[in-house]
Amino acid sequence: MRTIVGLRKIALVAVLTGVSAVVGAAGCTLFQSEQVAKGQKLYTHYCVHCHGEHGRQNEGYNWGKMPDPRPKDLSNKAEMSTFKDEEIFSTISRDMKDTTPEKGDKIGDDEFAVPTMPTFKHTLSEEEIWSIVAYVRTLHGMKSEFDVAGQIKKLDGVKLSAQKNFDQSKQTFDAAQKKAEDEAEKAGKDDADESVYAKEQDAFVAAKKALDAAQAALTNFKERPKFAAVARPELTMKPDQAAKLAERGKQLYANKYGCNACHQVSDTGGVVGPALDRAGFRLNGTWVFRWVKYPQSMKPDTRMPNLGLSDDDAKAVTLYLATLRAPKPDKPTEKSAN
Ligand code: HEC
Ligand code: HEC
Repeated sequence: MRTIVGLRKIALVAVLTGVSAVVGAAGCTLFQSEQVAKGQKLYTHYCVHCHGEHGRQNEGYNWGKMPDPRPKDLSNKAEMSTFKDEEIFSTISRDMKDTTPEKGDKIGDDEFAVPTMPTFKHTLSEEEIWSIVAYVRTLHGMKSEFDVAGQIKKLDGVKLSAQKNFDQSKQTFDAAQKKAEDEAEKAGKDDADESVYAKEQDAFVAAKKALDAAQAALTNFKERPKFAAVARPELTMKPDQAAKLAERGKQLYANKYGCNACHQVSDTGGVVGPALDRAGFRLNGTWVFRWVKYPQSMKPDTRMPNLGLSDDDAKAVTLYLATLRAPKPDKPTEKSAN
């Protein structure tokens, strides 16, 4: 017993004396492990059903239910090491592409465009997505090289200098305007000639734009995206128009937004969300439109990501769901053995 306590004490002293010596390097490692821990939490909430706790195939409960291609093995270092950190980031944070043959989007040979891998661009902050990248790296024994703290510092710096430039150009603009007004008054005119200070005004407008952009870049990095409340859609239309839109919605459902990765219709599709066979009976169109446009406004922690649907796409998908009117499944008979 004694020796163990003694050893512990020695170890503790060694740790304490070592602390100040390595604090520079350790600060960085500490930050890195905080990032990984944060990423693990998010991965467990948003990814684990499809990719599994360790990133292995057929580990997540949804894996076997998904349409092809099934999620690949994120623990496979040979394959995953071929991706740069930035590539993993841009897969998780991308715009969805319509993969419908002929009608769909142009998709480059090297472009990742599997509709059943959702985007998290409209759900999470960039910092959160980088922390997920850091965690995904650990699944195949690697480390993310991306410097989150450095990026925040850089964006802060850009904002600071944009602010300085803005303040300065506002002063210059105000002074030029005042001078022009004073001169106009001396000359007995009602208004100053705006063209006299047009250059200063242009510079001021440009500086304001740059400041807004710098602020937005910082906000996008640190905070989850927020959107305006979703306006009520116009869903009444002629039956033939509704049928046409529903047909388009069916394509978008599977080929662009991969809703079938998480929802079943006629027993095919994933099981992360509820089956939608009877959505046409159960769900109100306006509600569906608002939900798919911005699920987090109704349920902040839902596992369903905001997939970035345009109003037109959300309308088409809503009209498709309205056509899903499967009969009620037979209720299993209770106590059938009696
Ligand atoms: C609804 C199921 C599903 C969810 C949820 C999901 N993925 Fe995927 N993921 C897929 C599918 C399908 C693919 C495409 C097949 C493949 O390449 O693995 C994929 C591919 C990937 C890839 C490989 C990309 C490439 O270039 O080949 C990475 C990395 C990845 N997902 C990470 C994540 C992370 C991180 C999350 C959570 C933030 C996540 N996925 C959530 C289904 C899912
Ligand atoms: C990553 C998985 C995932 C994807 C992709 C996904 N959903 Fe969902 N969806 C869910 C989950 C989980 C819920 C349950 C909501 C909750 O309680 O958090 C849900 C709920 C819903 C509901 C409400 C269902 C009900 O019975 O209350 C609708 C409608 C819906 N999703 C439609 C869609 C559509 C349309 C798409 C594609 C544009 C889509 N979902 C993509 C996971 C997903």
